[in-house]
Amino acid sequence: MSHSLIPWSTAMGSRRQPLFFLFFIFLHLFRFTHSSSSSFQHLQITNAERRIDLNSHIIKVYLTLKVENLGTSPASEVHLAFSPTEVEHLAIVKAAATSGKQKKKTYTRLGVKSAELPDGPNGTKIFSISLLTPLSKGETITLEVLYQLTHSLEPFPVEISQSESQLVYFRDSAILLSPYHVKQQTTFIKTPSTRVESFTVVDPIKRSGTELKYGPYDDQLPYSYSPVLVHFENNNPFAVVEELEREIEVSHWGSVQVTERYRLVHGGARHKGVFSRVEYQSRQGSSGASSFKYLLARLPAKIHSVYYRDGIGNISSSHLRTGLLKSELEFEPRYPLFGGWKSTFVIGYGVPLQDFLFESPDGRRYLNFTFGCPLAEAVVEKLIVKVVLPEGSRDPTAVVPFQVEQRQEIKHSYLDVVGRTVVVLEKRNAVPEHNAHFQVYYSFNPIFMLAEPLMLATAFFLFFVASVAYLHIDLSIRKS
Ligand SMILES: *[C@@H]1O[C@H](CO)[C@@H](O)[C@H](O)[C@H]1NC(C)=O
Ligand SMILES: *[C@@H]1O[C@H](CO)[C@@H](O)[C@H](O)[C@H]1NC(C)=O
Ligand SMILES: *[C@@H]1O[C@H](CO)[C@@H](O)[C@H](O)[C@H]1NC(C)=O
Repeated sequence: MSHSLIPWSTAMGSRRQPLFFLFFIFLHLFRFTHSSSSSFQHLQITNAERRIDLNSHIIKVYLTLKVENLGTSPASEVHLAFSPTEVEHLAIVKAAATSGKQKKKTYTRLGVKSAELPDGPNGTKIFSISLLTPLSKGETITLEVLYQLTHSLEPFPVEISQSESQLVYFRDSAILLSPYHVKQQTTFIKTPSTRVESFTVVDPIKRSGTELKYGPYDDQLPYSYSPVLVHFENNNPFAVVEELEREIEVSHWGSVQVTERYRLVHGGARHKGVFSRVEYQSRQGSSGASSFKYLLARLPAKIHSVYYRDGIGNISSSHLRTGLLKSELEFEPRYPLFGGWKSTFVIGYGVPLQDFLFESPDGRRYLNFTFGCPLAEAVVEKLIVKVVLPEGSRDPTAVVPFQVEQRQEIKHSYLDVVGRTVVVLEKRNAVPEHNAHFQVYYSFNPIFMLAEPLMLATAFFLFFVASVAYLHIDLSIRKS
């Protein structure tokens, strides 16, 4: 700025005018920042309803916000606030604008992203929802937000024996953390069973069955916070996949072969003492209530050649149900999993190529497959999806509906000349909400379809030539 000011001041030959100009710029800058922060302040939440579902180890929060613009300028964004701990465990945030009532409700999906804004008090992080049409002065909009948190239930006691139930702590605020003034709000917390050891009282509060109702609370200032602690029973499987590698291999010869390598751990309260299989089997349900014996994988329809094996070998204790829309594989690890116990295994299957490989209007081919982990209610700390393209594929591009890390590798297998291009997608903290479709587009020259048969033919030909040569040598030896 001073750069352009100097020649200007010398040109004008006056010392006062540049100062005035500077002042003018500052005034402008000030007005600009001021107006943007004030449009932030001029939204108000007239009503907030929050429903927290603590049934599984993935915490699901459904938020309904009625937002009103009290300012004079239109607002194109609505902000959400999360505590630093929540942000650390946040797996997904989705938002939609709703209109209409009850059965005639319509939803319009809105984009949500981490806002490039300074943190609020105490390190509060801001996310912003982009509205499709700016909210004018005096207007109100209803937003529905879903967010999910992982690793947010703390087992207490941290160690339990086979006969004990699993108890956990959940921490949150009775008052919705928000950058806006909230006129009225209520929070409902749903627990898996009626066994609630303790909960923080913030009046008014009501408890009925498996539900705790905090509020209604009126007129809460921006960034108000009131910590609550709920201690309750949760025996649902805490299935945590430390790492899952899904390899999806495309072969133009008719099938897509999927290999999934799992490293699974029971993420709940650690098991203490010895494991008694006799007690486990004779008192099913009450013994090892928080352990899990079966796992359920939701797989595509029309799968074939399914296998399930671990480090020791094939495991036959699995049931496969195939349907028109999906298949379900229920399987049993070699031993039931208790808190802290691990299991590594591999699931493999094939699916017909024509259900997953298509041609886009620009002539490129693309694979359309599901991204996430097929295990029900599992949290995946590190998910690696590898798409192995046929040899001769070029310029792959992946389209994933959320942020992932991407890179490329080359994989060599038998009969490969140049190797196969592998698109590697990596995502941390994945939940079943990430089981969305993604696409990998690539160019392919059909001449490469001939590569493998040509290689085979060449190999056979060479073998033939070698045999003939050998026979000739053999004969010539006999002659002499
Ligand atoms: C910030 O943290 C302090 C200490 O934990 C607490 O007393 C205060 O109420 C918090 N302020 C806000 C705005 O959350
Ligand atoms: C595992 O089981 C599958 C199908 O039941 C079979 O085709 C395969 O040969 C078995 N593999 C081993 C190593 O036993
Ligand atoms: C991918 O498949 C899903 C489910 O069959 C379908 O809804 C979606 O439109 C497909 N996407 C593309 C880009 O073909």
